[in-house]
Amino acid sequence: MKRLSWSRGPLRAGLFAFLVLGAALPARAQQAGASAPGKASEKARMCAPCHGVNGLSEQPDAPHLAGQPEFYLRDQLRAYRSGKRSHEVMGVIAKPLTDAEIAELAAYYSAIAIELKKKP
Ligand code: HEC
Repeated sequence: MKRLSWSRGPLRAGLFAFLVLGAALPARAQQAGASAPGKASEKARMCAPCHGVNGLSEQPDAPHLAGQPEFYLRDQLRAYRSGKRSHEVMGVIAKPLTDAEIAELAAYYSAIAIELKKKP
C-alpha cells in the first residue's frame, strides 16, 4: 500500500478539523435553541483550516476564496457536490451542503474585499 506523502498532511489535518467543527457547530446551535439561519460566517469557520480565516488561504494547495465572484464560488461548490468537479477533499465537504448554505457561503466570501498591490 502506498504511504501518504507529506504534502497531503496539512490537507488531512484540515479535513479532520472540518469534520470535528462540522459535528460541533450544529450541536451548539441546538443548545442555544436557535435555528441560526444566515450564519454564513459561522459556517465559513469550517473552511478556515484550509482556506484561511478570511478566505485567504495559507495552504499551498487550497485556493483563495475571498473576493471571488459569487456565481463562480456557487457553481464550483455545486460542481463538487454533484461530482462534476472532482476532488477528494472538496467532494466530501460539499456533499452535505444545501443550496441555501452554498448560496450563503458564496455570498460571504465574495463580499470580502481584497486589495491588490504590486510587490515593491
Ligand atoms: C481540508 C481542506 C479544505 C477544507 C476544510 C475546505 N476546502 Fe475548499 N478546497 C480545498 C482544496 C485543496 C481545493 C482545491 C481543489 C481542486 O483542486 O479542485 C479547494 C477548492 C475550493 C473551491 C474552488 C475554488 C476555485 O478557485 O476554484 C471552493 C469554492 C471551495 N474550496 C470552498 C470551500 C468551502 C465553502 C469550504 C467550507 C464549507 C471549504 N472549501 C473547505 C480544501 C479545503
